[in-house]
Amino acid sequence: MKISILGTGSVGQALAGRLSGLGHEVVMGTRDVAATLARTTPDGWGNPAIGTWAVANPQVKLATYAEAAAFSDSIIIHAMNGNAAIDSLKQAGEANLSGKILIDITNPLDFSKGFPPSLFISNTDSLGEQIQAAFPDLKVVKSLNTMSNPVMINPAAVPGDHTVFVNGNDADAKETVMDLLKSFGWEDRNILDLGDITMSRGVEMILPLWVRIYGKIQTPFFNFNVNIAPKA
Ligand SMILES: NC(=O)c1ccc[n+]([C@@H]2O[C@H](COP(=O)([O-])OP(=O)(O)OC[C@H]3O[C@@H](n4cnc5c(N)ncnc54)[C@H](OP(=O)(O)O)[C@@H]3O)[C@@H](O)[C@H]2O)c1
Repeated sequence: MKISILGTGSVGQALAGRLSGLGHEVVMGTRDVAATLARTTPDGWGNPAIGTWAVANPQVKLATYAEAAAFSDSIIIHAMNGNAAIDSLKQAGEANLSGKILIDITNPLDFSKGFPPSLFISNTDSLGEQIQAAFPDLKVVKSLNTMSNPVMINPAAVPGDHTVFVNGNDADAKETVMDLLKSFGWEDRNILDLGDITMSRGVEMILPLWVRIYGKIQTPFFNFNVNIAPKA
């Protein structure tokens, strides 16, 4: 498949590496290709800069948001900073997005007052819903935003059963996303379809808990598990 990833941070890199390893053609979207490729300083978490990563992964090309979105035949992964989530899609252009599936991994994290972050959208709205409302022809499927990127692409990084949530308005789009998750190693029993795009509120509001757990245990290798008792 031809898959586009909007975003070149650690999430974009992890997914691009995994998808190209699975045989997909991947293009990553960024604001300024030359400036992005010139970056070589690792981030604060020790992840390689995108410039260094791109040299090690020459099969993944970088492009503008519009070029990247146009490249996809059906799946676009949205791995943008939450503050730039809607703007990046505007730059991608409605014509390049229309009818496609957007796997939305973004979180509305507000770091303006430091760590831990708060949410700049919550309770009665969510970033997932705002994206769907702004781009009605896009099939937005929220998923993978509730765990760290090494766990997204390799669920075995955390032992035992643990859950990946999926939600969105289009049933076929969710099926396609669930198939992609299975190709990463997610078991059927651990994929939980929560319902429509309004369920993004709940999965985005998990983040304040996620970051506090991370602060406590000092490792991103953990995940939430919805453990369902068998029906009596
Ligand atoms: N890190 C994780 O493990 C993790 C886990 C779950 C969910 N998420 C969510 O996934 C998304 C991506 O996270 P990330 O850690 O990979 O990277 P990030 O630093 O949150 O986002 C990086 C991407 O955002 C783009 N961007 C565009 N405009 C921006 C602006 N004004 N300010 C900052 N960035 C801007 C950058 O563009 P350029 O390419 O042009 O620099 C880059 O591609 C976030 O919404 C995050 O909350 C992350």
